[in-house]
Amino acid sequence: MDFGVWSKGLTALAVECLIVGVFEEAELSAEAASVDAACGGRLKKLLERGDFPGRAGETLLLADLPGLSASRVLLTGLGVKKQFNRKAWRKAWATAAAALLRTRIASCAVAIARPVARELDDYHLGRAVAEIAGAALYRVNDLKTGKKPAPAALRKVLAGPVRTPAAANRGLTHGAAIAAAALVQRDLANLPANICTPTYLAEETRALAKTHKGLSVKVLDEPAIRREKMGCLLAVSQGSHQPPRFIVLEYRGGKEAQPPVVLVGKGVTFDSGGISLKDPPAMDEMKFDMSGAAAVVAALTLAASLSLKLNVVGLVAAVENMPGSKAVKPGDVATSASGQTVEILNTDAEGRLILCDALHYARRFHPAAVIDIATLTGACVIALGHHHSGVMGNDEPLVRELLEAGRRADDRCWQLPLTEEYGEQLKSNFADFANVGGRDGGAITAATFLGKFTQGLKWAHLDIAGTAYLSGAQKGSTGRPTPLLADFLLHRAAR
Ligand code: BES
Ligand code: MN
Ligand code: ZN
Repeated sequence: MDFGVWSKGLTALAVECLIVGVFEEAELSAEAASVDAACGGRLKKLLERGDFPGRAGETLLLADLPGLSASRVLLTGLGVKKQFNRKAWRKAWATAAAALLRTRIASCAVAIARPVARELDDYHLGRAVAEIAGAALYRVNDLKTGKKPAPAALRKVLAGPVRTPAAANRGLTHGAAIAAAALVQRDLANLPANICTPTYLAEETRALAKTHKGLSVKVLDEPAIRREKMGCLLAVSQGSHQPPRFIVLEYRGGKEAQPPVVLVGKGVTFDSGGISLKDPPAMDEMKFDMSGAAAVVAALTLAASLSLKLNVVGLVAAVENMPGSKAVKPGDVATSASGQTVEILNTDAEGRLILCDALHYARRFHPAAVIDIATLTGACVIALGHHHSGVMGNDEPLVRELLEAGRRADDRCWQLPLTEEYGEQLKSNFADFANVGGRDGGAITAATFLGKFTQGLKWAHLDIAGTAYLSGAQKGSTGRPTPLLADFLLHRAAR
C-alpha cells in the first residue's frame, strides 16, 4: 500500500475516490461542502431528500459526479456533530475503508472532517489512516479449500487535509508499521493449535527475525529450559507431547549500555486446563492463549522495522497445557527458576507458572522496564469486559506510561489495584505460595503471584484475556495490544 498526504485542491486530486463525511443533521463537513460546490450541489440535494442519514457506521458510494477529477465519492457517516471526536472519526474511516475494499477502487483521498487538533493532530491522523487501512485489509489466512476472494484493489491512500505534511507522513510510516505488526500477531494467534505449537512458534519467530533486519533469536529447547531450572514452566508442559520452547528475541537499536525494555509473552499454544480440565464451551478459543507471545513477537518486528533507537528484548514462554498421565496434578509442588516453591492447586492457572520463570529470566538483562503480556484470567474479562485490557504493576510511573500509551493508541487499558492485602489469598501450607487465590479478585491475585517474581524490577502486567480476540461470528484475533505496545516503544525511543 502506498500512502501519501493531500493539503488542498481536493476536487482536482488525481485519485479514483474522495471520502467525505456527513453529520447526522444532514450537515456537510467542510470538505464535503467543497465537493458539493464543485459538483453543483448534488450532495446537498441528496441529503435534503433524506437519502443519507449520516449515521456512524453507514456509507454511500456515488459515481460520476460532475466537476470532480475523482470518478467516485464515498460518503461516510460521522454521527451527531456535537459528539464528534477522534473515536467517531476512526469509526467513519474504518467503515469507509471496509466499504472501499468491496469495490475495485484502487486509489482514494481521505477527506473526512477532522475533530479538533487536540483530539487528532497531523501525526496521529497519518498514523490512524495507515493503521486502520492496514487493519481493514487483513484477511485471516483460512484453511478453506474454496475459491479465494480476489485480492484487494486498493493501492494508494492519501490522508488529509494536513497542515504539516512531514508530521502526517511520519504518522503514516508509523501507522503502516503498526498495522504490519498487528498482522503478525493476528496471523500467529489465528492459527489452530495443531499447527501453531511451541516448536512452530519458535520457528516462525526465527523466520520473522530473518526478514527483519536487526532482530536476533535464540531458542531454548527442553534440555536448555531444564538447565535454567524453570520448574514451573516445565510442570505445565510435562502433560503434553509437544515439547516447550523458550524464545529470546533481541533488538538492539539503542546505545550499547542502555538498559533494555523486556517484553514477556504468555505463549500457551493451547490451554485445555490440564488435569483441572476446562468446560467444553468455547474451549477452542484457548488456541488464542498465546496472544501475549504473538504480541511480543509483533512488537519486536515493529521496533526493527522502524529502526527504533531503543534496546528491546522479547521473551516468549511457549508451552501446551494438556492433561495426561504425565501431567502435573493439583497439589503438586514445583520449584521455580527463582528457587521459590509453588503449590499447583489448579493446573488451569498455568499462565502465571510459565510467566514466573520467564520474568525471572528477564533479570539477567538488567532491564529498564519489564512488561508481561498475557491472556491470564477469565476474572479480568468479568471485571473489565472487552474494551480495556487490565494493567497492574509495582511501578506507578510505568503503569501510567502504559495507560497513556493505550489512550493515545486507542488501545486502552485500565488499572486494577495491586496492594499487599491480596497476597493473603495465595498462602499455602506446603509451599512458598499457591498458584491460585480463589475466585475473588482473580485478575489481581494472578498479578500478585507474578509480583513475587519481579521484586526489584520495574514491572507491569497487561491482562489481555478480554481484548486479544473476539468470540462468536467475529471470532478471531484483534491484534491488541500491539498498538499500545507500539506507542509505548515509540515514546520510549523518543525520550
Ligand atoms: N487462559 C486462561 C484465561 C482466560 C480465560 C483467557 C478466558 C481468555 C478467556 C487461564 O489460563 C486460565 O485458565 N485462568 C483461570 C485461572 C483460575 C483457575 C484461577 C481462569 O481465569 O479461570
Ligand atoms: Mn488456564
Ligand atoms: Zn491460559
